[in-house]
Amino acid sequence: MPTPSSTSDVVVVGGGIVGLAVAWRAATAGLSVTVLDPAPGDGATHAAAGMLAAVSEADFGERELARLNLASAARWPAFAADLAVATGHDVPLLRAGSLAVAYDADDLALLRRVLALHREWGLASAEVPVADARRREPYLGPRLAGAAVVEGDLAVNPRATHAALAHALGDAVVRRTAVRLERDAAGRAVAVHDDAGSRHAAGAVVLATGAGTTSALLDGVPEVRVPVRPVKGVTLRLDAGPELPLEHVVRGTVQGRPVYVVPRGAGTGAGPGSGPGHREIVVGATSEERPDDRRAEAGGVFALLRDARALVPGIDEAALVDVTPRARPATPDNLPLVGATAVPGLLAAVGHGRNGVLLAPLTADAVVAALTGAPPPDDTHDALAAADPRRFAPATTEGALP
Ligand code: GLY
Repeated sequence: MPTPSSTSDVVVVGGGIVGLAVAWRAATAGLSVTVLDPAPGDGATHAAAGMLAAVSEADFGERELARLNLASAARWPAFAADLAVATGHDVPLLRAGSLAVAYDADDLALLRRVLALHREWGLASAEVPVADARRREPYLGPRLAGAAVVEGDLAVNPRATHAALAHALGDAVVRRTAVRLERDAAGRAVAVHDDAGSRHAAGAVVLATGAGTTSALLDGVPEVRVPVRPVKGVTLRLDAGPELPLEHVVRGTVQGRPVYVVPRGAGTGAGPGSGPGHREIVVGATSEERPDDRRAEAGGVFALLRDARALVPGIDEAALVDVTPRARPATPDNLPLVGATAVPGLLAAVGHGRNGVLLAPLTADAVVAALTGAPPPDDTHDALAAADPRRFAPATTEGALP
């Protein structure tokens, strides 16, 4: 059935957690919004574990991304609280912090290099004896070579957060695919057409698409380049009973392979046999340079479980209730594209890679500031400059190496 045509201050293309966060913050700033997505929240958001791990995710060569991540992590408590008040949905944050653990001596050498990077960048983390880590989290495995605590890391349930955002936005979310961007004679983006033939007129259009869905929309828009590629990952959801009351995010490397184990609060378990005291535990994630084919290979799932149980053996007794393959939308420099593009009226909120959930509040604030003409958030001005979508515009790319 054709959707009615609409007229809004803002049309957001893409209804993952980033698109809905932008739309919701725009709506609370007094703007009328429409979100177009045939399956809202069914992309990377559906797989995401929800680590808000600005410190643990800080990596070599990604200083600007770490600054963005820190600024957005600082916004999460208020974002979650505002969303809970607006919707009546609980949006709990796990505040116990992360334990970064190393399985063998080589993993410990890597952990120490990362901790040295944290010190250089002024990030709070500390190596602790394994016995100390085990006192904090008794469910750690018996054979670990080292451990560190990262007190400031948070975690959230992305599916529940997305559901709260969708509830807050109600009928503004239209389950249709955006197929064409309409521009006026001056080149300004003025409307988006959907696959039912409806026209959604907009004061501004925000691209918040995931991996592999933007290019058709940008056909005929040569000024804007969105070099987003899919990086496929698989996450697993387990239902753990009362005998595994894991409280911390446990992440680490097992013979060089990264793995994380993210618990939710008690009462979040799901699937046959779950009950009071059961909790969801998310294990993640594989990482492959390829599109989302919605297939979870047995070998990838096996490797994740093998490595996760090396860190937290108690997951052996948990029920495997969900296997979710999806692609992260990654950019060449691992920084997202946030803000105005070279086309008037067209803004970007795309390419968040491994950090879509973490970066949603900051992206929303930055995009709403651009939409309303307010100055960008104070604490993020420089970091946001690194996420300028125009850095990939055709006129400024370096082109092929000689
Ligand atoms: N943020 C974790 C991941 O992408 O696997």
